[in-house]
Amino acid sequence: MIERLEQLAEEANQETAKAENVKELDKVRVKYLGKKGPITEVLRGMGKLTSEERPKVGQKANEVREEIQKQIDEKTSALERKELESRLEAEGIDVTLPGKPLKRGARHPLTAVVEEIEDIFIGLGFGVTEGPEIETDYYNFEKLNLPKEHPARDMQDSFYITEELLLRTQTSPVQARTMEERNGRGPVKIVCPGKVYRRDDDDATHSHQFMQIEGLYVDENIRMSDLKGVLEAFVKKYFGEERSIRLRPSFFPFTEPSVEVDVTCGICKGGGCRICKHSGWIEVLGAGMVHPRVLEMSGFDPEVYSGFAFGMGVERFAMLKYGIDDIRHFYTNDVRFLNQFKRV
Ligand code: DAH
Repeated sequence: MIERLEQLAEEANQETAKAENVKELDKVRVKYLGKKGPITEVLRGMGKLTSEERPKVGQKANEVREEIQKQIDEKTSALERKELESRLEAEGIDVTLPGKPLKRGARHPLTAVVEEIEDIFIGLGFGVTEGPEIETDYYNFEKLNLPKEHPARDMQDSFYITEELLLRTQTSPVQARTMEERNGRGPVKIVCPGKVYRRDDDDATHSHQFMQIEGLYVDENIRMSDLKGVLEAFVKKYFGEERSIRLRPSFFPFTEPSVEVDVTCGICKGGGCRICKHSGWIEVLGAGMVHPRVLEMSGFDPEVYSGFAFGMGVERFAMLKYGIDDIRHFYTNDVRFLNQFKRV
């Protein structure tokens, strides 16, 4: 019986050595160590042995069983290690391979233009302020010298939410809000960028939502020449030193006098072409000296303070600078359009 056990150990160890994977090893384990296996059978036959032989055979059987189990365990961990190694090798990352290029986004051209214009005015000593897009009729119109029923309200068709609330039609209400916060003490020197809304039909040059930048400079002794100097400096910085401006009389209820500001055409340099309708000039913004009533309504003494204000359309400035022919490009977010502004 001892020999039989040794022979079994030998056989089992050979099969264990040959096994190529964990499944095969399991079969070896069941075959030799299982309840129906040969060792169990040997143990069952022990009854026929003499009391002298019995402990020896029992001890041997246990040794053999332990030996087989040990061999199987060792082989199992060896196989598992090998498997892990080959998996790590297969999944390994070659850090020397070139990476996949990431698609980088770009600042939206309108954001870029707003920031550029802000920077120019910051350079001229202006601060940047914002105001709400949902505005009251009071700030959007009344505080800007546009009482109810004033015919000039027709210049800006509005989206009303209630009788008193609307989507602001201009950034000018931020003027009134800012002056109010300053409690009648100057200087107030700000630009306010933001979205505005008008009931316009969308086409190549109109959009029901667009962006404006408002400017306001109120202090003692501010004159029309200051307005002209600041706007000229701004236009030259934005469009180029070779460009100049002219002021034409106009009307806005919140300024007196009011002007329309033109810049020399960038295509024909003032000679006249299709873009400037052969005038050599392109209208870019509205401006004027803040109306004494507007100063007064926002708590500034018009006997002491004077100021100028201006308002410009951001899309228009972007279109003129980059030769964009349709305002709708800014809102459709076609990446072929947006990608052209990666360096702006
Ligand atoms: N708010 C005017 C508009 O939307 C633009 C404007 C004109 C603003 C003259 C001003 C200004 O501050 O002084 O048409």
